[in-house]
Amino acid sequence: AFNWFTAMRSSQPVYYDEQSHIWHVFGYEDVKQALTDPTHFSSEDVPGFSEDTFLQGTVVAKDPPAHRKLRNLVNQAFTPRAVNHLSDRVTQIAQELLDEVLPTGKMDVAKDIAFPFPAKVIAELLGVPAEDWDIFRRWAGGEDGNTRPESPEQAMQMRHTMEQQMYAYFARLLEERRRSPREDLISSLSVAEIDGERLSENELVSFCILLLAAGQETTKNLIANAMYCFTEYPELQERLRQDPALMSTTIEEVLRFLPPVWFTFRRTASDVELGGKTIPANSIVLVWNASANRDPEQFPEPDRFDMQREPNRHFTFGHGIHFCIGAPLARLEARILLPMMLEQLKDIKRVPDVPIKVNAGIVYVIQSLPITFQA
Ligand code: HEM
Repeated sequence: AFNWFTAMRSSQPVYYDEQSHIWHVFGYEDVKQALTDPTHFSSEDVPGFSEDTFLQGTVVAKDPPAHRKLRNLVNQAFTPRAVNHLSDRVTQIAQELLDEVLPTGKMDVAKDIAFPFPAKVIAELLGVPAEDWDIFRRWAGGEDGNTRPESPEQAMQMRHTMEQQMYAYFARLLEERRRSPREDLISSLSVAEIDGERLSENELVSFCILLLAAGQETTKNLIANAMYCFTEYPELQERLRQDPALMSTTIEEVLRFLPPVWFTFRRTASDVELGGKTIPANSIVLVWNASANRDPEQFPEPDRFDMQREPNRHFTFGHGIHFCIGAPLARLEARILLPMMLEQLKDIKRVPDVPIKVNAGIVYVIQSLPITFQA
């Protein structure tokens, strides 16, 4: 895919695919313009959300002014303080997961750490009780223990049932927290207020589901991608052990190099000029942040992994008004877990001849990454 991006950036940086009727945007400046201009590039009624009853009403699928109201309300609860407050618990969760695999000398990074870690953290953040962790695991798209749908109709039906269960679950939890608030996100969301206006039950519940969806697969892949880079370029492991201060820029480089989210959708609200082309009103636009991240105009030697790259203004968390709310949390999780892994596991190697399983969609997913190590 990265070769395709390179070819497209130089030949057709803004490209109309006549078969799918989708416009593609590849270059850094064009991607930036699309993401900075919600008036022309709308987030409402785009594919991905429009068929999803819950995400439709959430911040990610709203334009101003509705977006601003929702985002401000959410920001009241999702503060840097609320996130930093979590760091002790995040450390504990990381250690519990590591303790389970340490004695064995091997693990599947994806299944054993990268998947359960962010799910537990979000459950903690929201204030979901630990005993409900199993329900959560299913919703978060756990790979194991799921019945596989046999037809698209059955898949729809399963999804529908799951959404109803999620809705009922969060509505009940919300009600409980309204009666007796705790120090968690659900409690603070339920009382957040702007100009006397609060989030409706529907908005609140949808937002909880959005957090679960947006914060889970993405962060899972940040962790898995980092471990992929540490085994692909093993010299990184020693350098980071010797100089832990390099971890921050290394994480940013993992984010740039292998972004968990490769593109976002927009819909043009009116005719708009981009990269010398006119995109007609009501077109679906695929904005390739993964391609922008490799644009040589912005990133010298873009295909080289440079753990000290600075500046590193990648678009992995998006840009503009929809910039990822969870970015501080995702960074916190990586900054806590990855140093612990390097400290406690020596000589980390990928298991030779076992393929890494990858599933590419909106989120690029490493499904399996087996490694060996010495505790
Ligand atoms: C928005 C990526 C982690 C919650 C976004 C967007 C991207 C993104 C690209 C912009 C979407 C757009 O412009 O349409 C990521 C990546 C993550 C991550 C790569 C991990 C490495 C999280 C976490 C949470 C979260 C941990 C919450 C716990 C959200 C929310 C939005 C969002 C609520 C919508 C913001 C808005 O529309 O104003 N994320 N995300 N994300 N993200 Fe994340």
